[in-house]
Amino acid sequence: MCGITGYVGYRQVTPVLLETLKKLEYRGYDSAGIAVLHEQALLVRKMKGPLKVLAERLASETIEGSLGIGHTRWATHGEPSDINSHPHTDVAGHIAVVHNGIIENYAKLKEWLQAQGVVFRSDTDTEVIAHLINYYYGKNRKKQENDSGTEDALLHAVLQTLTRLEGSYALGLIAIENNDFPDRLIAVRKDSPLIVGLGKGEHFIASDVPALLGYTREVYFLEDREVAVLYRDHVDLFTEQGEQIHRAPSHIDWDMASAEKGGYAHFMLKEIHEQAKAFTDTLRPRLTREAQGWDITLDEIKLDAGWAAAPRIVITACGTAWHAAMVGKYAFEHFARIPVEVDIASEYRYRNPVFNPQDIFIVISQSGETADTLAAMRLAKQGGARILAITNTVGSTLSREAHLVLYTWAGPEIAVASTKAFTTQLLCLYLLALKIGVLRSKVPDVDRYLGALRDMADKAAQILHKQELIQRFASRQFNKDKVFFIGRQFDYAVSLECALKLKEISYTHSEAFAAGELKHGPIALVDTNTLVVALATQRELFDKIVSNIREVTARGAATWVITWEGETVFNAIADEVFTLPQTEDSLSPLLSIIPAQLFAYYCAVQKGNDPDKPRNLAKSVTVE
Ligand code: AGP
Repeated sequence: MCGITGYVGYRQVTPVLLETLKKLEYRGYDSAGIAVLHEQALLVRKMKGPLKVLAERLASETIEGSLGIGHTRWATHGEPSDINSHPHTDVAGHIAVVHNGIIENYAKLKEWLQAQGVVFRSDTDTEVIAHLINYYYGKNRKKQENDSGTEDALLHAVLQTLTRLEGSYALGLIAIENNDFPDRLIAVRKDSPLIVGLGKGEHFIASDVPALLGYTREVYFLEDREVAVLYRDHVDLFTEQGEQIHRAPSHIDWDMASAEKGGYAHFMLKEIHEQAKAFTDTLRPRLTREAQGWDITLDEIKLDAGWAAAPRIVITACGTAWHAAMVGKYAFEHFARIPVEVDIASEYRYRNPVFNPQDIFIVISQSGETADTLAAMRLAKQGGARILAITNTVGSTLSREAHLVLYTWAGPEIAVASTKAFTTQLLCLYLLALKIGVLRSKVPDVDRYLGALRDMADKAAQILHKQELIQRFASRQFNKDKVFFIGRQFDYAVSLECALKLKEISYTHSEAFAAGELKHGPIALVDTNTLVVALATQRELFDKIVSNIREVTARGAATWVITWEGETVFNAIADEVFTLPQTEDSLSPLLSIIPAQLFAYYCAVQKGNDPDKPRNLAKSVTVE
C-alpha cells in the first residue's frame, strides 16, 4: 500500500504535494518523492526515509511549477532506497510515474524492455510502467509525424501500456509533451484505490480521501479500469479502451479523523476489513495458471529440492506471529509431512537449542524488528541453519539478515493489535507447506487446496458482512470476567490468537486451551461468569467438541461456537453459533480468526478502550 497524490492548477504545486502526502503517510513511509513540470523539464526529487526528509531537502530549493505528482512508499519490490523511491521515469526523464499496487508480470516486461535496449536503474516493478509508456509514446509520435497515428499520442500510449500490465495499480503520471497539450495529469485505477478531486481551476488525484479534504469535497472515486485526464479547467474520464465516460461526482462529508481510517471508527476495524484485499494481494502473484493446472510460484525464494529434503522445520516468533507459527506447524505436518518445532523466540534464544544445518529455520515478524525474534534468528544463523523470514516490512532488519524472505503484502498495519498481518502470514505458511508438500509428493490433490485458497478472499468478505451479528453478541458478553477459547488441532492454534486479541485490547482475562486439556485442570476455572468460545472446524472431531461444550455448560458457562455453515450439531447445545462459509478444514484458520478479531474489537469498544492503542503495548517490541 502506498500513497499517491497529484495536482494541476494555479497554485505552486510543491507545497500542495507535500501537504497532501503528509495526509497519506499512514499508507507508506519508508520513502517519498515528487516530480514537478518546471519550464518544460521534469524535476524529480525522491529519497529513502519518512516524508520529512524529503520536505527538508525541498526546503533548500524553490521548484516552481503548477503540475506535479507525489508518492509515499510502502515497499513491496525493491528495498527502501533513493533509487527505488517513486516517481520513476523513462531513461530521458520525459515521463514520470507514481504507482500503488503490484505489477505481477514485471519481470517478463523488464526482460522485454531490456531486449529493446532500455536501461533500468531501480529494482522496482513500477519502473517498467514508465519505460513502457515511453516506448509506445515514441511509436505513436512517429506515426503522427507520418500522419497515421492517434491525435493523443500520450493517452494512447498509456492505454496500450495497460494492455500489457497484470496485477494491481493506481497510477499517476505527468509528461513533457512539447506543448501538444495544455498541462495535464493522467490517472489510472485497477484494484488499488484512486480518487480525482474537483476544484475550480485546479484538479487533484489522491489514493485516499484525507489528502483532498483541505481542498475539495467533490470527487470522482475512480472505478476499476478507469482512466482520468486532468486539466486545469476540466477532467475527462475514459475506459481502458478509450471510450469517454460521463458521470456525476460524489460529495464527501467525512471529517478528517474518520477519513484517515477510511470511514471506519478505528484503524483496527479498517485493517480487519482489509483482509479480503490483503488475501488477494498476498496470494494472487503466487498462484499462477499453468498448462497442467494451478501452480505455486514462490519466485522470490526459489525453493530447491534441498528444502524439500529438510529433516525438520523450526519456526520461531513472538506474540501473534508465534500463533501463526503454531498454525504453520499443523500445516507443514499436514501437507509436507515434515516434523515441525515451534518456539517462542524469547525462549528459543536462551535454551541452548540443538541445531542441524539441514533444518529449515523460519522466523515470522510483521515489523521485522522484534528484538527477541532477531536474536533467535541470529543464534540459528550462527548454528548454520538456512533462515527464511516471513515479514510485512520490506527493508526491515529481519528481511536484510535472513537468507530468504517471503513478504506478506498486507500493507502498513497501524493498529497495535495485529490482524491482516496474521492472516497473510498464514497464507505464506500455507503456500510454503503446499509447495514443499508437492516437492515431496505428499499432496496429490494440491489443486483442491489451491482452488480453496483462490476463493478465500471472497469467503473472508462474506464473514465481514456479518459483523453486526458479532457486534450484538459482544454487547451481551463484553462484561464476562473470563473468556476461554478452546479448540483441537488447527482450531487450537487459532484459539491462541483469539485469546491474545481479546486480552490485549479489551483487557478481559482470556486464555486458550487445547479442548482436550479442559478436564486436566482449566475446567476448575469455569463458572457462571465465564464465556467459552469453541472453535469447531475440524469435522472429524465434532463429537469431542460437543462433549467439551456439554462439560462447560454443566458448570454454568455461556458458550459460543464458531463452525461451518450447514453444520447444525451445535445449535441445540450452544448459546450462540457463528457460521463460516465452507472451505477445507485444514485451511480454516484463515477464516475462523475473523469473527474472533471482530469480537475482540467490539468488546474493547464496549468497554471504552481505544482498540488502536491498547495500554502498555507497542506496535513493535524492539527491546527485550
Ligand atoms: C499482536 O497483536 C501484538 N501486537 C504482538 O503480540 C505482536 O504480534 C508481537 O509483538 C510480534 O510482533 P512482530 O510480528 O512485529 O514481530
